[in-house]
Parts: sequence; structure tokens; C-alpha cells
Amino acid sequence: MSDKAWGGRFEEELNDVALRYSASVDVDSRLAPQDIRGSIAHVRMLAAQGIVPQADADAIVAGLEAIAVEIREGRFVWDNAREDVHMNIEATLSERIGAVGGKLHTGRSRNDQVGTDMRLFTREACEATAARIDRMLAVLAVRAAGTVDVLMPGYTHLQRAQPVRLAHHLLAWAEGLDRDRGRLLDCARRLNESPLGSAALAGTTFPLDRAMTARALGFAQPTRNSLDAVGDRDYLVEATAALANCAVHLSRISEELVLWSTQEFGFVRMSDAFTTGSSIMPQKKNPDMAELARGKTGRVVGDLVNLLVMLKGLPYAYNRDMQEDKAPVFDAFDTVDDTLDVLTGCIATAAFSRDAMQRALRDGFLDATEVADWLAERGVPFRDAHHVSGKLVALCVREGKVLSDLSLAEFQAEHPSFDASIFGALDMETAVERRDLPGGPARQRVLAAIQELRGRLSGRELDVDAVAAKFSARPVVDPRREQA
Ligand code: ARG
Repeated sequence: MSDKAWGGRFEEELNDVALRYSASVDVDSRLAPQDIRGSIAHVRMLAAQGIVPQADADAIVAGLEAIAVEIREGRFVWDNAREDVHMNIEATLSERIGAVGGKLHTGRSRNDQVGTDMRLFTREACEATAARIDRMLAVLAVRAAGTVDVLMPGYTHLQRAQPVRLAHHLLAWAEGLDRDRGRLLDCARRLNESPLGSAALAGTTFPLDRAMTARALGFAQPTRNSLDAVGDRDYLVEATAALANCAVHLSRISEELVLWSTQEFGFVRMSDAFTTGSSIMPQKKNPDMAELARGKTGRVVGDLVNLLVMLKGLPYAYNRDMQEDKAPVFDAFDTVDDTLDVLTGCIATAAFSRDAMQRALRDGFLDATEVADWLAERGVPFRDAHHVSGKLVALCVREGKVLSDLSLAEFQAEHPSFDASIFGALDMETAVERRDLPGGPARQRVLAAIQELRGRLSGRELDVDAVAAKFSARPVVDPRREQA
């Protein structure tokens, strides 16, 4: 058999530059396991339908299985002249078992073949990334449980705003990531249809059993339209968009880790295993992993844009442009998977400093809202109460004080309703505990949220504590700096 699957019509070899330009095997050889599974399902169906003799199908299956082992063991020789993963495998098959290998491609085109491979790959990759997210959620649940009693400033506009619990902040990270997980699994569910039988674009004259190949490959059903099946890549856009969203979440978490590990904040010390030093400044301990996670987000967003722009002008059915879908999809999954793992390690082993957070709570007037609420609860319209509290803050700023330094007389000078109970409202613990609504930072609410998250994870058959142990998650905040 000629290596040229399109054989007869062509007299000249492909130009060298054209070959180098169009060959994709360097990238798509990664689809070999999916390609071989798809081919085996297809040829078994061809035999069951009486389209090829059973003995020929058996020889093809055996040949493909042997090739699969060679590829797994790194012994398979990939040939750039054979363009892509599909032709490398098929040509090698025919070299091994003879012309009968040529029966594999009956009623099939590389167009429905590559669509099948990519759907299988993406389904598995979405599920694998979702499982990685679950591991990070498990670590967050355990770290939250160890930090329930650590108060920290909550920020808006990166200005100290109101006190919260560190655990509440860690659980905020978990929520966005869990939605990313849901989006990936939605994508895996929606893409789960088999293109096989769509052939080049218009189906085939052979009496294929499309439901049989769909079932064999774990697809819920065959695709409904042959033109759509070979020409649509929206499932790749969807997966990559979910990954870009996840990367942006990871980048924002990373930014907080970078910020919190500055000397200015001092809220966290990353473990030595996830930081590096400087070759010139001996005192440096850089949060490189978080910085790289933040930086690599650009790649994933780029991967999404790459796909969308590649698809934008394409007429329906298959166009060769689509070969360019693989690199961005592989890159997006690889980057997010590695980022999830490295950040899970960073978060598991980071030492949070209760002292530094406590110090940050002292200045910054995080109790100014408490003063306004205290008045509002006693019938003062909230807007007026807000104004009074603002004037008290201004007084403190002028005199270098905090609100609890003021005397009752100073409070009363701004509003006659103040009495001594205002001082009780200025306590940070009290302020947090009074935020006792579902989704809020009060202790019982946070404990319930941790339980709820653990419940979600065990519903997914995840052993939260085992995962946390695997990442060496610290049970509590930094024991050297505080007494938790
Ligand atoms: N390597 C090609 C791709 O990834 C396979 C499909 C080629 N189909 C074609 N008609 N040339 O898109």
C-alpha cells in the first residue's frame, strides 16, 4: 500500500516544505490511544454488520493492539512523512498485517475519525481536571477547618474593610473552583456523542451500526448531523473556556498568595518546597509558584482566543484549519492541570500567621461599620449613622487613635444615643459573629460551610483527609507564630 491514503490521483510527492508545514504527528500522536480505541470499535462493528469478514477484523484488531503496546512502551517509530497520528497507525498496521489492513478505513474518513478521537480525549481530560480540582477543594476544606478561629481583615478595593475568618476566605476560593469543575463536567456530558458514521461529511453508503460504535466507546448516542459532526469544535471552545475561567481563578488566588507573602502583609509563609531564593539577595524567599501560576494564565486565555479565531471564518463541515485545534487544547489542559497540582501543594503547606492578621485588624477602622450598625439598630437612619461613624473615623485619623481609644463623651459629641455598650460592638470577634447569615463568616456558619463542602466531596467518593495527607496539608496555622 502506498503511504498516501489519497493515492491514485497523485503522481508527485508532497513538496518538502508543504509536508513540514502540514504534518501534525508531533502534536497529535498524543491521540494514539483514543485513535486505536476508535478504530477497534469501528472494525468490530464492520464485522458485526458483515461489511468485512470476521477474520479480517480480528487480524486488524490484533494488529492495532500490538501497535498500542508499542506506542505505550515508546517503541513505535513515528514518521513525519505519514502526516498525522491516523495515517501513521494505519500505514504501520498494513505493513504488519498486509493489504487487509486497508479494510479498516471502510465507511470512515479521517474527518469523523479525528472528531471521535478529540471527543474521547476531551471527555477524559475534563474528568481528570475535575478530579484535580476536587483534590484542591479537599485541601481547602482541611485548611479551612484548621483556621476557623483565625480572624483577618476582609478587603474591598484592596482596602481593609470588615473582619472575616481566614477559613471563610479559603472557602471563597473553593466556590469558584467548584463551579469550574461543574463547567468541565457539563462539557464532557454535552460532547458525549459519537461522530463515527459521519465519514467525510455526508455519511456513507455502508450499512454501519452507529449506535454500536457509540456504545463501544462510551458515547451516549451518535451525533445527529454528519456535517455538524465533522465540522464543529464548539466542545473544544467550551472546555478551553472552562479552563481559562479556572486559570483566572487560580491566578487570582495566586495574586493573593503573592501579596500575603510580602513583608508588608506577612499573612503567609510559603513552605521551602514551593519557594526559591535569589542568587544575589540572600534574604529573599520568592513565591515563584504562585507567580508562575499567575503568568501561565495568559497562555490558557491565549489558547481560548486561538481556537475561537481559528474557527470564526470556517464554512461548515471539515476544513484543514481544524488541525490547529489540538495544540491549544492540549496546552490548556496541561497548564491548568499542573497549576492545580502546584497550587494545591502551596496551599496545603503554607503557614498562615495569626499574629500578622491580628495586627492588620488593629488599624484600618474595620469596626467603623459596627458603629454605624449600632446606631441604625437604635433607629438612626443608616445613611445618618454612616455619616456619624465617618466623622468619628476622621477624628481618630486626626488624633492618631483607633475607635476603641475614644471616650464615651467623644462618641456622644457626634451622636447623643451612644452609650457604653458601643465599646462591646468594637470587638472584632463580636463583629464577625454578628454576621450570622447563611454564607457569612460567623463561626457556626463557617463550620457548617466546611461540613457542606466535605459532604459535597464525599458525595464524589473523595476521601478528603487522605487527599489532604497526600499533599501534607498542615492542620493548623503556623505553630511557631501563634498558639492555635
Ligand atoms: N490531521 C487532520 C486533523 O487533525 C486529520 C483530518 C484530516 N482530514 C482531511 N480531510 N485532510 O484535522
